Order: sequence, then C-alpha cells, then structure tokens
Amino acid sequence: MIYDLIVIGGGPGGYLAAERAGQAGLSVLLVEKRALGGVCLNEGCIPSKALLNSAKTADYAKVGSKYGVIAENVSIDHKAVVKRKDKVVRTLVAGVSMKMKKNKVTVVNEEAVIQGRSADGFIVKAGETEYTAKRLIIASGSVPSMPPIPGLHEGYKNGFVLTNREILDITEVPEKLVIIGGGVIGLEMASYFNSAGSNVTVVEMLDHIAGPTESDIRTILLNNYKKKGVDFRLSAKVTEITDKEVIFETKEGRQAVPFDKVLVSIGRRPSTEGLGLENIGVETERGRVITDEYMQTNIPGVYAVGDVNGVSMLAHTAYREAEVCINNILGKRDIMRYNAIPSVIYTNPEVGCVGETEESAKEKGLDVEIVKLPLTYSGRYVAESSEMDGIIKVIMNKKYRTILGVHMIGSYASEIIYGAAMMIESEMRVEDIRQIVFPHPTVGEVLKEIMWEL
Ligand code: NAI
Repeated sequence: MIYDLIVIGGGPGGYLAAERAGQAGLSVLLVEKRALGGVCLNEGCIPSKALLNSAKTADYAKVGSKYGVIAENVSIDHKAVVKRKDKVVRTLVAGVSMKMKKNKVTVVNEEAVIQGRSADGFIVKAGETEYTAKRLIIASGSVPSMPPIPGLHEGYKNGFVLTNREILDITEVPEKLVIIGGGVIGLEMASYFNSAGSNVTVVEMLDHIAGPTESDIRTILLNNYKKKGVDFRLSAKVTEITDKEVIFETKEGRQAVPFDKVLVSIGRRPSTEGLGLENIGVETERGRVITDEYMQTNIPGVYAVGDVNGVSMLAHTAYREAEVCINNILGKRDIMRYNAIPSVIYTNPEVGCVGETEESAKEKGLDVEIVKLPLTYSGRYVAESSEMDGIIKVIMNKKYRTILGVHMIGSYASEIIYGAAMMIESEMRVEDIRQIVFPHPTVGEVLKEIMWEL
C-alpha cells in the first residue's frame, strides 16, 4: 500500500498532523520509536505540570494562615506525586492513541529511517518493514543539549546527572539539587524541588534567569525564588562536574557547590541523527531542518514541524505548524506566523508573555509606547494573593495603536495570555480592546484596564 502521508514522530507536532490528515480522509502512517505524545506528554509539559500543581498546593497550604486556614506540618509526599503524575501521563497517552484510532491513523512503534525515494514516493523503514508515502512529515522533536563539560557525561552515565527525562522519575527528593541552566526547565524544576524541600542552587551562564523574558518580569521572578530560598549563581560558567560538586567560574573566581543530584537544562537541540535525511537531500542548518512558511523543506512533499525545525521549541507552536502543514497538503493555503506565540513559565507566581519585549522593540527600532500596571488593579488578585508583586506590561505600536507585546507575572497569567495573543494576532487597536467587556472580578481584567493607560 502507498500511504498519502508518513509522519515521523508522535509528539504534539506529529500526532496533531496525523490526526488532522486522518480527519481529512488521507491514509496516514505514524511512526514513533518511544511513546505517543512525545516529550511534551511523557517527559515535559504535562508531567512537570502535575508536579508543579502539587508544589502549588503545598505552597498555598504553607501560607494558609495568611488566609485564615491552618494547615500544620505541610510536606510533599514525593512518591505519591510521581505516582499521580504517571497516572496523568498514562491517561493522556491513551487519549492520543484513541484519537489515532478514531481518525484511522496506523501507528507503528519503531524507529523510522528514511531510505530514499522511488517513483511511488518516499521510502521509510520502520523496524524490518519498508513503507512508502507520497508525502512525509518530519516531527522528530528535540533532545537535551549535553555540552562537553568535563564530568557531565560520566555523571549522566552514573545516574547523578539528570536531564528533564530522568528528573521526573526520581523517587527521592534530593537534599541538594544543583540545576545547570536557569531557563524554563531549570526554573520549573527549581520551583517544584524547592517546594518539595530540596536545597536548590541554579547555576546560570547569563547575568539573568529566564532567557529572553521581559526584564521586569524576570527580576520579580528571581526575587520571589530568592525569598523562597533558591540560591542563584549568575554569570557563572560551569567548568567541571566531579562526583560531588559542580565547579564554575564567576567574576569572583572559581566556586563549587556540592550536590546529591544535578539537573542539566541548558537548552535542547533538534533531533535529526540517524533519520536518513541525507538519503533524500533534506537541507539542515546546524542540525535543524530548514522550513519555509508553509512548513515545507527544500524537498517538495517533505515537511518538518515542531522542535526539529528549531524555530520556536514549544508544543503549541508545533500544533499550529502541524495545522499549517496539513492545510497546505490539502491545498488550502495557510501560512505560519511566529509573532504572537505565547510563552509561559509555570512557576509560582506564573509568567505569561507574548510578542515584543521592551528590549526586542528597542533592538528593532520600533516606535513604541510602554506601560506597566501592578496586578493589584484587579480586585480578585488582591482578594486571593498573599504576595502582591505581580505586574502586567504592554508594548504598543505608537503609530497604529496596536498591541505588540504583553507580559505578565502573577496568578492565572498562563490562562490570560492567550487573550493578549488574540489581540496581537488580530491586530486589534487599543480603542477596540477598550470596548470588550471582561468578566469581573478576574485577574484578566487588568488587560483591559491597562488599555486606559495608553
Ligand atoms: P532554555 O533555553 O529555556 O534555557 C537554558 C538556559 O541555560 C539559558 O538561560 C542559558 O543561558 C543557560 N545555559 C546554557 N549553557 C549553560 C552553561 N554551560 N552553564 C550554565 N547555564 C547555561 O532551555 P531549557 O530550560 O533547557 O528548555 C528547553 C526547551 O524546552 C526550551 O525550548 C523551552 O522553551 C522548552 N520548555 C518550555 C516550557 C514551557 O513552555 N513552559 C517548559 C519546559 C521547557
């Protein structure tokens, strides 16, 4: 049989592409070497959210007296948290599997290697079987970056250096956890293990945490976690990992922090090794598959969605890329835009951002007006919060009075931010947004309130 489409990789990009293609009546084969759902569902977004929800529950209980709620001896039962996380993952993986069945997608649990092409299409070997399809989607995702720091690879082999995969399954809370990299994974895991009772040290190469996040927001986040007892070593370059210490250089000289476990979270790189891309001439650039705005590679009929194209390594970007890709395969012209992709950090307080930051607007020479409000402008925020340091910041295009960026830190930011993404995506003007009725009392109301500051 010749398939209409073979999808390599069953993460958010791959399974959604397969689902949409199946819905449209195409014959689809999905090849996944590990588990359906990919990194997001099995060892990323979802399991970490299960852990972080337990952390948040414990955090609230610990400050319960501020709310007139007395909870004594609050602690996290880590084994129970991991057990619950595993159940959440199992349920959702089964859900993806059901969706594949419903849309008549054939799933093969093997490693796929592209062999070449014939007059019938592209040939992919999965296990011992060769399959052919008219079109191919590469959705092989990404793997953690593991730089050649002396001792890092040995530590990984010996089980005390972990990546995002292993850390979600450890059964004991380490007394001393050192996290290399203060980006999204580092901060989310620092958040959980700090709540669970670890002494957490974050060693970050840059002079700030949370990468390109708006500077006011990341400063508030840093201060929050410093107050909770996380030790941050910034502008610190790790030079070695021994079997008991992480060693790094700072302006003050050589320093060392002892550990029980080390988490390496210094970014991810596209996963293309062994895929056989060279057998059909797919162009890559520093390991990432190059795609155009239709998600097509340099080879007509071959597409790449999700982390493997290295543009925006987020599950929700992969979803949209998958839709754009399938629409184009179906002959419905659709274009991928990256200007309104929200990003969220599920710390407590949580961070939600979309679009230009003050820094990026300045770099691009955009003529903007920038306003900031404390979240205490929201009655609900004041009624519910124990810390009152949340803010919202908006970047407006001065000429058109459209919104270019919205950045928030505080409760519900992760759920509010898509509203801001819609405003940017649909190029709404400040005056249009002022006319929308927001429910009261909500934290999201600040998004309307701030429009009156512009
Ligand atoms: P990241 O790119 O967010 O952060 C990596 C950090 O490590 C950066 O701050 C970088 O300066 C630092 N770093 C790099 N080399 C270093 C070194 N040798 N020593 C010390 N620090 C070093 O990468 P992360 O946290 O590993 O996440 C990987 C991917 O997963 C990202 O693309 C992220 O967007 C995604 N992700 C998204 C989540 C979300 O949306 N909530 C949650 C978790 C991950």
